[in-house]
Amino acid sequence: MEEVPKTIIPCHIAVIMDGNGRWAAKRHMPRSYGHQQGSKAVERFCEDAYHLGVKYVTVYAFSTENWSRPKEEIDTLMGLLRDFLKECIKKSKKNNMRVRILGDVARLDRDLQFRIAELTEKTKDYDGLQFQVALNYGGRDEILRAVKKTVAAVQNGTLTIDEITPESFQRFFDSTEIPDPDLIIRTSGEQRLSNFLLWQSAYSEFYFTDVLWPDFNKKELEKAIEYYGKRERRFGGV
Ligand code: IPE
Ligand code: IPE
Ligand code: MG
Repeated sequence: MEEVPKTIIPCHIAVIMDGNGRWAAKRHMPRSYGHQQGSKAVERFCEDAYHLGVKYVTVYAFSTENWSRPKEEIDTLMGLLRDFLKECIKKSKKNNMRVRILGDVARLDRDLQFRIAELTEKTKDYDGLQFQVALNYGGRDEILRAVKKTVAAVQNGTLTIDEITPESFQRFFDSTEIPDPDLIIRTSGEQRLSNFLLWQSAYSEFYFTDVLWPDFNKKELEKAIEYYGKRERRFGGV
């Protein structure tokens, strides 16, 4: 009997959701409208990915560099995040979804920090989709914060220099409990990391598409997964 090829499903997909502004501009609409639609696309993405068998989804929502955008746009993005996190509390209970935040939350408004703490605490035992939102996240910032914690551990005697290994170092990462991404998707035609998961992407596969984030749907996700299934993953061996 002929064997039906099985699709290989990545365990962890991370997404650089790009192109909201251009999506809105094409429609002669303000950028905020693009962000609104982009936020709806996140919800769909999580559902679709989970139904296809993906266990971990990480989305890049706001980078450490995005603070350089106009204040009005930052306010819109933070407002959407506020609503998104509120919705998330309801949705995660229904869908058994665990939510974690990657990034330095200390720079966010107090009410957002409170909401994040509540969300991460309330969902910590849920074993459905493991959903990470990268918020005020920068790969360089995450590495530097881990360096500082490592130095402090050496100074207070809980770690020796010889004990500094990739494993002990990444214990100080925001992503410490999460496996490295198998597949990183970036939308909107750009082909760069923009400071996303610099350490964790060492052996990730990449999928780039011209589709703008608000248009990214289940079909596009299936294309990305199909592409992933055709890759021969290598980790430096023969
Ligand atoms: C991605 O869309 C969302 C964030 C970076 C928050 P952009 O806002 O970067 O959209 P473009 O790249 O300007 O089209
Ligand atoms: C990357 O998109 C950050 C997020 C998706 C949150 P940007 O639009 O900010 O990145 P650049 O400026 O094109 O590299
Ligand atoms: Mg962009």
